[in-house]
Amino acid sequence: MSLRAVLTGCGAMSAGWIDAAKQIPGLSIAGFVDLDPRRAQAAAASWGGNAQTGADAVAMIDALRPDILFDVAVPMARHTLVAQALSRGCHVLTEKPMAETMAQAADLLARAKAAGRIHAVIQNRRYIAPIRRIRRLLASGVLGRVTSLHCDFFLGPHFGGFREDMRHVLLLDMAIHTFDAARCLSGQDAEAVYCREWNPPGSWFAHESSAAAIFELTDGAVFTYRGSWVAQGLGTSWESAWRIVGERGSLVWDGHDDIRAEIVGPPRSHLFDTAQSVEIPPRDAEDRIDGHLGVMRDFVAAIEGGLQPETRGEDNIKSFAMVMAAIRSAESGMRVAVDV
Ligand SMILES: NC(=O)c1ccc[n+]([C@@H]2O[C@H](COP(=O)([O-])OP(=O)(O)OC[C@H]3O[C@@H](n4cnc5c(N)ncnc54)[C@H](O)[C@@H]3O)[C@@H](O)[C@H]2O)c1
Repeated sequence: MSLRAVLTGCGAMSAGWIDAAKQIPGLSIAGFVDLDPRRAQAAAASWGGNAQTGADAVAMIDALRPDILFDVAVPMARHTLVAQALSRGCHVLTEKPMAETMAQAADLLARAKAAGRIHAVIQNRRYIAPIRRIRRLLASGVLGRVTSLHCDFFLGPHFGGFREDMRHVLLLDMAIHTFDAARCLSGQDAEAVYCREWNPPGSWFAHESSAAAIFELTDGAVFTYRGSWVAQGLGTSWESAWRIVGERGSLVWDGHDDIRAEIVGPPRSHLFDTAQSVEIPPRDAEDRIDGHLGVMRDFVAAIEGGLQPETRGEDNIKSFAMVMAAIRSAESGMRVAVDV
């Protein structure tokens, strides 16, 4: 099937989208839109061919009548862009976070349903091999029931741009990936959260750039998150450093390639049991991987009549709800229910 897309938001992230789109047979990007015409032109040039450029997404959609909107714009523009594209019959693949508020997210889901269009989110950090391998190990039951997941995220990036003025920037712009990964790994959703946010002295962000959160998950497990974007030195992976505890063993993942698991063996002393290491399942040909490209492939396959993508808005809203509940908890100082 041949599919035509318009891409809005030709900033830093758009290069990854363009690269992914080039690898999908039958998919073309017919128009590039950015408020800054030079960015739209540069993106079109990197795509090649004779794509159009402009500053108005609606005008471009009306002119080109594409099958798809690729939304890579800043989060503040998201609801308007996605709503307009859905109302014009486009399928939409959108960057995270899927909206700025729960009301906006719910509105976009309702619009996609009413229009009968696929609406999915680039939650690309669940499309990586370690996540899939760990998920398979946990699902095998070898560690027993998962009782807690813990992760640390500590980096000190100087992005410039919209992030440095954004409220709740760590939770909204980054922790969404980690919270989504916790759902993906555990197979559990979140029911409630207690969260504290702060902006450390010396921060180059205008607002809260560090956070600690404790989530209660649906099957009784606890998920704890500690994160900061103002942490110089000893940086973690962008995927976080993880420890997952089950009834019969534990798993640690450094967020890169080092995954280790141990399960309980015979007693060693009155104090401790022995532990024996467990092999981590290798990659499987069916694993959903390849980051942006993997998400985009599943989105296109869904348009062509395949399964609904894993990151469809209806599912992704459960990860977004974790972020929004964490923000409400941080603002109120209270434990807050995670409502979808
Ligand atoms: N999935 C990931 O791993 C990942 C990584 C980085 C960024 N992102 C997300 O991608 C999105 C963009 O981030 P970025 O780093 O490329 O930001 P950026 O600031 O570099 O680029 C955003 C672009 O959107 C344009 N824009 C703003 N309003 C617009 C509108 N109404 N119509 C068209 N263009 C508009 C801006 O002019 C800018 O060029 C954000 O939602 C961000 O969270 C995701």
